Amino acid sequence: MSIDYNEAIPNNVDLADDRRLLRALERWQPAYLQWWDNLGPVETSDFEVYLRTAISVDAKGWAHYGHVRMPEYRWGVFLTPPEKGRKIAFGQHKGEPVWTDVPGEYRTELRRLVVTQGDTEPASVEQQRRLGKTCPSLYDLRNLFQVNVEEGRHLWAMVYLLHAHFGRDGREEANEMLERHAGDPDKPRILEAFNESTDDWLSFFMFTYFQDRDGKFQLAALAESGFDPLSRTCQFMLTEEAHHMFVGESGIMRVVKRTCELMREHDTDNVRAYGGIDLATIQKFINFHYSICLDLFGSERSTNAANYYSMGLKGRYQETKIDDDHVLADAHVLTPRIEGNHIGTEESAALTAMNLKLREDYAKDSQRGLNRFNKAIAEYGFGTRLTLPDPAFNRNIGVFRDINATPEDKIIGDDEWQARRYEWLPSPDDRAFVQSLMVPVTEPGKMAGWIAPPKRGIHGKPLDFVYVLFY
Ligand SMILES: [Fe+2]
Ligand SMILES: [Fe+2]
Repeated sequence: MSIDYNEAIPNNVDLADDRRLLRALERWQPAYLQWWDNLGPVETSDFEVYLRTAISVDAKGWAHYGHVRMPEYRWGVFLTPPEKGRKIAFGQHKGEPVWTDVPGEYRTELRRLVVTQGDTEPASVEQQRRLGKTCPSLYDLRNLFQVNVEEGRHLWAMVYLLHAHFGRDGREEANEMLERHAGDPDKPRILEAFNESTDDWLSFFMFTYFQDRDGKFQLAALAESGFDPLSRTCQFMLTEEAHHMFVGESGIMRVVKRTCELMREHDTDNVRAYGGIDLATIQKFINFHYSICLDLFGSERSTNAANYYSMGLKGRYQETKIDDDHVLADAHVLTPRIEGNHIGTEESAALTAMNLKLREDYAKDSQRGLNRFNKAIAEYGFGTRLTLPDPAFNRNIGVFRDINATPEDKIIGDDEWQARRYEWLPSPDDRAFVQSLMVPVTEPGKMAGWIAPPKRGIHGKPLDFVYVLFY
C-alpha cells in the first residue's frame, strides 16, 4: 500500500473520505508546525538533511531517502494494514473479535494510554533540541534529526487516534500535547524522565538506548491491544523505534571503543586528559538513565495495569508467544518487598504485576547491548565491565521509592546516600567535563575526538557523504 505525498497529510487511512476528521487534523497541523518551529531542533529550518521518509507500510522497502528541509518533512498517519479476523489475545475478552471503535466502557482508560504514550514523543524532541549545535559528526547530526522527525510523526500517530476516536475531549488532549513542555515548571510533560534535559551527546546516546527502549516495550505492549487502530499504529511505530535504538547502541559502542583506544594508547584508565570519556563516567550515565527509565514502567503492583490487561487494552511483551492462559485469573508471581534492611519478595496476583513483567523484559533487553559493549572492552584487553544497576537504585516510583540503595542493592541511609551518590551518578563535575567535549564537528567524514567512527554510513552512503547541507 503506497502513500500519496500530494495530500496535505500523507496517510494510509483514507483520510480524504472522512472530511470531518481531515478538517480537524488540518486545523491541528499549523499548531504542530508552529510547535516544531518554536521547540523543535534550534535554528535548523534551512538545513537539508538526508532523511528517510515512509512511503509505504509494507515490510519491504517502506523507506525513501533524500535531502529534505525538516519543516517540509512529510509527517503523516500510517497504520500497519489490518490483520483479517484478528481476535483479542488476552484478558476478559480473549477470543472476541478486536474492536475497530473505542468500547464505551473503556474510553477513559484507552484515552489515558494514548495520551501518556503521545506525550513522550514531542517531549523527546524538546529535550534534544539543542544537540545539533554540538554534533560530533555530520553522520550523527543526521541521525539526531532522523530520530527527531520520527518522534514528531509518532505524535501525529497518537493525535490521529485522539481525533479519530475520542471526539471533543480527544481534540482537547491533542492540543494539550503541544502545550505541555519538557522541563516546564508549570506545564511539564507527564512522565518525569521526559522532563530531564539532554544537553550532551553521551546523554543523547543513553537516551536513545534506554528511553527509546522503554518506548519499544510500551509500544509492543500496546501493539497487543484489542483496540485495533491502536495496535496497528503501534506496530508501525515500532519499525521506526528500532532505528532510534540502533542510534543509541551504536553510539555508546563507538564512545566505548574510542575510550578503549585511548586507554591502550596512553596506558591509563583516566583518559580525560586525552579528550576521552572514561569508562567510570560512562557507567555513571548508564546508572542514571537506566534507573530513571525503570520509573517509566510504574509501580510493581498496580490496579490500573491489572485493569488495562483484563480489559484487553494493553498486553504483555510478545503476549501471543507466552505459554499460559492469557487471562491470569489465578496466577501469582513474586514481587519485591522491603523487609527492614533488605529486599525480599512477596507473592502477588500476576494481574497486578503487569508493570513489573514489562520492566523485567526491558531489563533483559537492556542487558543484551551491555554484553556487546563488554565484549568490545574485553577485546581491547581490559577487565572493566559495564553493568546495569539493581532496580532498587535511584528510584522514585514503586516499592523502592522510599529507600536508598547502592547499585548492588544494599540499602543505605540518607546520610550515606547524600555522601556517596556521585560515586554512582554523574556529578555536576562529570556533566561539566562531558559538556566540555561537546564541540561541533561538521566537516564531512570527520569525528569528534571522544567517539570512534561508525562501521558504515547511512543507506549505503560513504562516511564522508554530506548528510546535512547547511545554507
Ligand atoms: Fe517515539
Ligand atoms: Fe523513539
